[in-house]
Amino acid sequence: MLLTRTSKSGLWTLQKTYWFRTCPPAYLASSPSRPHGTWNSAGSTRRRFVVAAGAGLGIGTILAYGNYRRQAAEVDPPASTSGPPFPVFTRQEVACHHSDADRVWVTYGSDVFDVTDFLELHPGGKSKILLAAGGALEPFWALYAMHKQEHVLEILQSYKVGELSPEEPPQPSVGDPYAEDPPRHPALKINTLKPFNAEPPSEVIAENYLTPSPFFFKRNHLPVPLVDPAAYRLHVQDACGRTLSLSLRDLKRSFRKHDVVATVQCAGNRRAEMNALQSTNRLGWGIGAISTACWGGVLLRDVLVHAGYQPGDEGHVCFEGLDRDQSGTVYGASIPLKKAMNPEGDVLLAYEMNGEELPRDHGFPLRVVVPGTVGARSVKWLTRISVGPEESKSHWQRKDYKGFSPAVTWDTVDFSKAPSIQEMPVQSAITEPSPDASVTPGELTVKGYAWSGGGRNVIRVDVSLDGGKSWREAELTGEEQLPGRAWAWKLWQLKASVPTGTKQLNIVCKAVDSSYNEQPDTVGPIWNILGVLNNAWHRVRISVGED
Ligand code: MTE
Repeated sequence: MLLTRTSKSGLWTLQKTYWFRTCPPAYLASSPSRPHGTWNSAGSTRRRFVVAAGAGLGIGTILAYGNYRRQAAEVDPPASTSGPPFPVFTRQEVACHHSDADRVWVTYGSDVFDVTDFLELHPGGKSKILLAAGGALEPFWALYAMHKQEHVLEILQSYKVGELSPEEPPQPSVGDPYAEDPPRHPALKINTLKPFNAEPPSEVIAENYLTPSPFFFKRNHLPVPLVDPAAYRLHVQDACGRTLSLSLRDLKRSFRKHDVVATVQCAGNRRAEMNALQSTNRLGWGIGAISTACWGGVLLRDVLVHAGYQPGDEGHVCFEGLDRDQSGTVYGASIPLKKAMNPEGDVLLAYEMNGEELPRDHGFPLRVVVPGTVGARSVKWLTRISVGPEESKSHWQRKDYKGFSPAVTWDTVDFSKAPSIQEMPVQSAITEPSPDASVTPGELTVKGYAWSGGGRNVIRVDVSLDGGKSWREAELTGEEQLPGRAWAWKLWQLKASVPTGTKQLNIVCKAVDSSYNEQPDTVGPIWNILGVLNNAWHRVRISVGED
């Protein structure tokens, strides 16, 4: 079966090569590492397909799982309902298949899969899937729990080559890598539990200018590390290449404390609206992947100057977090050195959030807060800072959090050509009423938030109740902010009267920032394969009931 990707949809077309299971396939028979895999009912002519993809697919390495769809149906009923059982293997036999040369096998439950042809297609990269080669997937899927979805299991099934011998002891249960994650507020709307990704309910978002920390959205890619603050050290590579090691106490004692009120927004905020148009198979954030806090800490600039860097220096400041996966890969990101050294850039190494110790979910004991910049660069659980001529080599800097044309598909995407997202575009959303609300004629209050990246102030929010035919200006609230340093959102509201007889309201909002940037009116022209940077007019339709 040959996999080829087609259209903008990123769908995969499968051309099948059928494997007639009258005898073990050649690669199994010739494999020295398959001494006694047994075939039950070997005389069957039931057809199974194998995937002969991967090589030659080039950029197909960055395949989103959900974009991989089996479009061709099997000719015969699936193995579970008819035909003979699969061949049976021991764990030892599976373990022999741990490299390209020997084919790469893995187990899940009692099934055996040959995933050699999927190696290049694995969204997290070949090196990650090879960690499981010859063994069980369970320990890895415990960390990346998003694998446990129907469509991923469906893909895995198409690679099934056998079953584990019933005599094999079951895979020892894996400790939950998320067992040490902190408790969270039950009102949060959870997108994924492991890793934890959640947003506040929309009616809570604009209730407070500073988002109470338990309601602040949480965006984690890995388990929350458990850090002993007494043993904690921040490692800073100085201008001569040496490493400074700073304790929390050193930071607090040696540098002046600053408080910065800043909004953090994830690039994926409002992705659900993009997914509704065309699925990106990524987290379906609503309008709540954005929150505002007063961050307390020391200026990154002060620490960098202490480490010998000069204001005019060029390059990138790279950050590493303490959260890591089994291969030791840590979360990382970078920002231009210019932003870090700008005395008006206000980039903070924060140890406080809303006047209290930084909560574990938000990076305890120390995180970066890069005001005006996409949330992905505000690295939590910060452990290392280095400066160099290149951006961070992290997956999240190079292969994620980048914007593309709607024309770019998984076939044509070239991550090296798109700059990493730094400053964010102007954004606004309606937090109340919520889409499922029913109001009665009379006075209606519409509420929401508006924010722009790069320190650009929001100067106006326009609201329409008739889908954009007529507009009114909303009343803005929020703290006074310095020009070019407007890091925090504006909350807004509009009081309108709904005449008797109105059946439906089509509420729309759009914000304008101090550079007169306005939001685009629809999602279509800004849709992209990663589902990032959705800042289209926000629309909420509500029905109006009887008085
Ligand atoms: N830093 C680390 N170490 N690990 C992460 O998973 N997520 C990033 C960023 N910093 C992340 C991280 C992303 S994508 C966002 S949007 C923000 O943290 C979210 O910050 P919050 O969870 O405090 O809202």
